[in-house]
Formats: sequence, structure tokens, C-alpha cells
Amino acid sequence: MKPLVILLSFTFFSTTLYANSHSQQHFDTGGLSRESFPEGFLFGTAASAYQVEGMASEDGRGPSIWDAFVKTPGHIANNETGEVSIDQYHRYKEDVDLMQMLNFDAYRFSISWSRIFPRITPHANLYHYDLPLALQEKYLGLLDRQVIQDFADYAEFCFKTFGDRVKTWMTFNEPRVVAALGFDNGINPPNRCSKKFGNCTDGNSATEPYIAAHHLILSHAEAVKRYREKYQAKQNGRIGIFLDFVWYEPLTRSKADNYAAQRARDFHIGWFLHPLVYGKYPRTMQKIVRERLPKFTKSEVEKVKNSFDVLCLNHYTSYYIYEPHQAPSNVTGYQQDWNAGFAYERNGVPIGRRAHSEWLYEVPWGMYKAITYVKKHYGSPNIILSENGMDDPGNLTFPESLYDINRVSFYRSYLKELKRAMDDGANVSGYFAWSILDNFEWLLGYTSRFGLVYVDHNDLKRYPKLSAYWFKQMLERKNS
Ligand code: GAL
Repeated sequence: MKPLVILLSFTFFSTTLYANSHSQQHFDTGGLSRESFPEGFLFGTAASAYQVEGMASEDGRGPSIWDAFVKTPGHIANNETGEVSIDQYHRYKEDVDLMQMLNFDAYRFSISWSRIFPRITPHANLYHYDLPLALQEKYLGLLDRQVIQDFADYAEFCFKTFGDRVKTWMTFNEPRVVAALGFDNGINPPNRCSKKFGNCTDGNSATEPYIAAHHLILSHAEAVKRYREKYQAKQNGRIGIFLDFVWYEPLTRSKADNYAAQRARDFHIGWFLHPLVYGKYPRTMQKIVRERLPKFTKSEVEKVKNSFDVLCLNHYTSYYIYEPHQAPSNVTGYQQDWNAGFAYERNGVPIGRRAHSEWLYEVPWGMYKAITYVKKHYGSPNIILSENGMDDPGNLTFPESLYDINRVSFYRSYLKELKRAMDDGANVSGYFAWSILDNFEWLLGYTSRFGLVYVDHNDLKRYPKLSAYWFKQMLERKNS
């Protein structure tokens, strides 16, 4: 592997931005402006290596489990891959120029083992779903304890090499998604599950999600330990993790539905956040999963407990949860263990407008509840809202798709709820929109567009949408 270090220079260069008349347009920001948020509050956009870089099999890069996965016909919409994606590998200067033009302060990206970008404050993530394929083949990756050592070695290499410039590190993006989608229903690589739950050749949904999650937590804790012991004081940085959190609202006011919603929260965010704060899994999980739930040794408890300086929450959506009407099935698996029913409407009223992705409903009040819940139950940690956004279908016609008024209203309403949570005492220090540019949306390939900036996938030209200019206006610096 030839480490490729791409440093963003502080030089200014002329941009080739699409001259869009909407840059002058006056938007309704819902009363929001930079001044609505505390001094020093960071606004950024988020993306991940495989989704945007391209150059996937060039310049010495080895394959990840995603490179192998996308090769199987049928896995990805239209059998697309991230081989070229939106070529941020070459176009990063143009893209960082875009971020600056839109008044963003920070960029959250991930390192595909060895690539790194910085006049925009880098927030670097060490792992965004892309385990090296070699480790999967050698010892089944996350299912073997060896991954703890290997991940910590990789993390340490990054601290040592880039820690003079990167002051905010994150270990894993959405370990829950990694464990559930990789090992319970198997729709993501490494594509493992019990036969009953999906189309996998191997796996065990009753045990493997918990083993993978356990190793993810221990890998995170070991990397944090090394950072704190050897680098943090010298480099003056901070370290955290990204957890995805859907808000689960009880469908009715019944006790049973309330318990079901609480179980859902415990099996979702509690699975990771409980150990990271308290050194153990939530009691509900211990009671339900029992001997299938791995245990932390005494020394592991000490290592895992309080193992973050900043907690990054990816929040997009909310669902109603109810106590299922049928008895739990006798087939065991992580999702079965929740014993919770999902609903997307109440008394015939949808929970929110659906975006292109079928899991994504626009529920701004869920943002307030999710943040407030974490504040209340987990000792009011320092939170960054690290992903939030919505997608349109990939085939919307151009240039009509630049008029993304639904996205403008999505961001306005969620940001108002974020501010409300902060006004009510939540300790939130930054917000990242997903994503700056349309990119490779995992299983949906290029059939989904999450960007503030439209990308023409034929010539890879970038065109800011209305939502990009909405942020530009909202984030204008009045005093500079
Ligand atoms: C997140 C994930 C991102 C992105 C986004 C939109 O869960 O971290 O990689 O794909 O969802 O689906």
C-alpha cells in the first residue's frame, strides 16, 4: 500500500463553479443564521471515502470488502460501483472550494486506509464500512478478536502520520449498521446471516451481530486508549465515534408500546452508547440476549467506559414503535430480539414526508427528541450532529433537480429543532449535512442523490442546488 497524502493547500484558486443565478436569491432561513448558534459552533458537510473518491483500484490502494461486494451482479442498483464515483480523489480542490464558497467551516471525510484531505477543518473518520478485504479473507474480519489489534495499529499509524493536522478523530461510522446490515440481515458486506433472514451463504444472525459489535467496541476503545496515552496531549486533539440514532416514538400511550420503544432505543443506540458511557450493555439487552451477548472483562470495562471526548450522532429519521401483536418468532436474530413493531403512520397520518430512500421520513421533531434523550440518559455528552440530510431520486431531470425546495425545507426544519434542543440545554458543538455532493449511495448506487451540489455522473461536473445556496446565506459571516 502506498500511502497517498493529499493535503489541501491554503492557497486560493479560481473556481469553475456553475454560475447560478440563485446565489443571489433571498431565502427564508426560518430566522436561522450563524448567530442563532453559539460562537465557535461548526457547520460542515459529510462524506466517506468509498462513496466519493473513485480511483478505487489505483495508486496502490488495496480492495475493501465493498470493492468485492459491488462486483456481484444484483448487489447494487444498476450494478454500479464506486470505482470512479465522483472522482473527489482528483477534484478535491474544486470540492473544498465549493464548501468554502457555501460558507461551511468543516469537512467530515473518511480515510480509506491512507488518504487525507485540510482551510476547512478536517474531521477524519478511520472506518466507514470499508474493512480491508484481506482481513475478511484471512480471519473473517470483525468476527475475530485479532481485528482489535489490527484496527488499533492502523489507527495509530494515522495518529502518528496525520495527527499534527487532524485534531478531530473518529474511529467508526455507525458500528450498529456495520453489525446489523453485515451480520443480521446480511444486505451489506460481508453479507453474512442465518438462512431465514436473508440471502447469505454463511452466518448466524443470532450470534454474529453481537460478536462483531463487541469487537467494534473493543477496537474503538483500544484505539482511543492509544490516542490518549501517546498522542492526545502532544497533538492537542480529540477523539470520538459516530453512532446512528433513529428516534423511536411509542405508537400509542400504552405501557406496552412505551416499553417496546425503549427496547428499540436500547437495541439501537444503547447497544454502543451504554458500554461507551457505563462500561456495560443495556440491561434490556442483557436480559433478552443472555448468553449470546459477549461479556467485557474487568479490564475491558475500564477501557471501554468513557472512551470518547465527543459523541457524533448521525440522525435522519424517526419511526413509531409498538408492542407486536404476535408472539416473538422462534427464529433468533438481532432484529427479532428487539420484539418491536415498526409503523410509519399514526391514525392514517404519515409520520413525515418520505424522501427517495424508503427508510427516510422527514420528522424534524425526532431530532429534538433524539438529542434530548442522549443528553438525559448519557450524562449530557459533548455532541456533534454529524450526519443529517435527505435524498432525491437519481434520475430527476436536469436542471430541474437543482430546485430542491424539499431539501431546503428539510434542513430548515431540522436545524430549528437542533437549535431548540440546544436552547433547552443540549451540549451540541457542530452540525454536518450529508452530503456536500451527490455520490455513491451504497446499495442504491447512483440512483439516489443526497448532495447539496448536483453531480452530472457523465462528466462529473458539479452544480450547486438551491439548498447549497440556502446554507451559503444562512452561514454568511456578518462581521467579516
Ligand atoms: C449513513 C451513512 C452514509 C450515507 C447516509 C445516507 O448511514 O453513514 O454513508 O450513506 O447514511 O444513507
